[in-house]
Amino acid sequence: MGEDWADDSVRPAGQSDYICWLPEYSVGVERIDAQHRRIFAMINTLYTALGQPQTALPVRRVLEEMADYVSFHFDTERSYLGAMPGYAAHDQEHRQFIAKAANFTKDYQKLPPDRLLRDMLIFLAYWLKDHIKGTDKRQFARYLELLDDHRQPTNHKEKHG
Ligand SMILES: [Fe+2]
Repeated sequence: MGEDWADDSVRPAGQSDYICWLPEYSVGVERIDAQHRRIFAMINTLYTALGQPQTALPVRRVLEEMADYVSFHFDTERSYLGAMPGYAAHDQEHRQFIAKAANFTKDYQKLPPDRLLRDMLIFLAYWLKDHIKGTDKRQFARYLELLDDHRQPTNHKEKHG
């Protein structure tokens, strides 16, 4: 299952994870990277439900937990980037993601669960990777540059590089 939606970060058939973390996903801030890795892990948990009896994994509960955690994560990103030029567009991407993810969750009752789960996994994985490699990396790079320029003390623990 899944060869047609494999890509560079989808493990080969026979391994248990759907998406795995790669160093190229680092935005340079360990706290944000750790949160992104946790969201990857949640997506991999959902992946284990594919092909299983509906009772094997409480998918709805995992989705609710993921929605809560993603919201918390977006708030964390705002705490770093909220004052940056261009953050409004970044926030708009987050809002669109939340709206689409909420629609998936709402539809979960209507469609055959495996089909919906599969569509959802594709959406979650591709959106997250594109967003991290594009918007997040670009804006956190700028944030770290400005931090260096101004040499401001900060409470956040940063990992430059
Ligand atoms: Fe983001």
